[in-house]
Amino acid sequence: MRKGSMTAGTEVTPEELRERMVRGLVERGAIVSSAVEAAFRAVPRHRFAPEVPPEEVYGAPEAIFTKRTDDGRAVSSVSAPWLHARMLEAARSAPGMRVLEIGSGGCNAALLAELVGPAGAVTSVDIDPDVTGRARRLLDGTGYRRVRIRTGDGALPVVDAPAGGWDRIIVTTGSADLPEAWFDQLAADGRLVVPLRFRGLSRTLAFAREGKWLRSDTTIVSGFLAMRGESADAPRVVRLADDDVRLTVDERQPCDEPALREAFSTTRHELWTGVRLTGSEGLLPRLDVWLAGVVAPYGRLRANRAAMERGLVGWVLGTGAATVWNDDSLAYLTLRHAPDHTDRFELGVIGHGPDREHLGASLADAVVRWNETARHQGEPVVRAYRRNDPERPTGVVIEKSDARLTIT
Ligand SMILES: C[S@@+](CC[C@H](N)C(=O)[O-])C[C@H]1O[C@@H](n2cnc3c(N)ncnc32)[C@H](O)[C@@H]1O
Repeated sequence: MRKGSMTAGTEVTPEELRERMVRGLVERGAIVSSAVEAAFRAVPRHRFAPEVPPEEVYGAPEAIFTKRTDDGRAVSSVSAPWLHARMLEAARSAPGMRVLEIGSGGCNAALLAELVGPAGAVTSVDIDPDVTGRARRLLDGTGYRRVRIRTGDGALPVVDAPAGGWDRIIVTTGSADLPEAWFDQLAADGRLVVPLRFRGLSRTLAFAREGKWLRSDTTIVSGFLAMRGESADAPRVVRLADDDVRLTVDERQPCDEPALREAFSTTRHELWTGVRLTGSEGLLPRLDVWLAGVVAPYGRLRANRAAMERGLVGWVLGTGAATVWNDDSLAYLTLRHAPDHTDRFELGVIGHGPDREHLGASLADAVVRWNETARHQGEPVVRAYRRNDPERPTGVVIEKSDARLTIT
């Protein structure tokens, strides 16, 4: 048995560390089902990151990077325990199922193998032969020889997919699209779990089929290493004030960069909505997604500390602020402490450019509408349609290369 750390003369074994991790995940609500709990107890997570001490592997709040490019950019990792747990709960895998994992670290595939049992099957695809070689070795070394590993682009069809499609497709790399292959190769009652980027937001969504389209029923706020290969698609970043204030624009939405830069350098117009939040409610991430479904164009404004200290922007969180724009003006969401409640925040809007008042008022109106209609309705629902479906959804439509999204 490999020993872990020494505390006051007591050696902590990886098994004890694992037990502690599992209990923590249950307490935090990341693990809710007994099946996922049993899988986490069974898989020796530390053996999938042998370069790192077990106490780090089991205590890691975030991913452990396992491959970097020559210039230091991370390209592969073992995801954080809480994220594995939440994605596996969202996938709802069961014994006997056929599961495709896209992005191979070994650890998640082993957890899936536990969940589908000997009657099920797990195939894991990674674009990088170093990653698949490593996953194969680690899975063999831990007794998960029956997990199939394939090298290839996970955005493309898998040649030996089961007849009738995969019961579950679990994507573990950040995707900017829902490629045709995933619609085609998902079983009629299948579920797709995917970290999706849209409108500058990153959300891991679990989709179930609903007629011709997919409907999300679980949303996890999470970042992921971006997908490489066929469906890689970098966001457009508009520098509004050098590198200090940036606007992320996805899906090739029209955007006149010089005009917005010019607008941003002019006087601001501030407007407060009267809509209040407490930090503990966690409602802002929901509002951000909901707004992406009702206003267009939509992007995310991000600012560094220096920009905030210099007063270039209002209070903007690290995750960015919902932003709308037109030909010559822009408006973004901001926060302030509510005057009479220290634990409450009020949502406001800051506009710049000749149309700042009108644009700001329309964003503020949307926030008020959210407060009155959607605030207490849970996570917004994302529907995904094939791009080549002749029936076009109504309302604000997010146009990807292979898919169309709506949010309600
Ligand atoms: C976060 S890691 C996977 C984590 C892993 N599933 C685990 O057990 O924790 C993301 C992986 O996705 C892979 N990847 C990126 N683009 C891909 C693509 N188009 N097809 C398949 N794999 C891809 C990367 O090479 C990387 O190894």
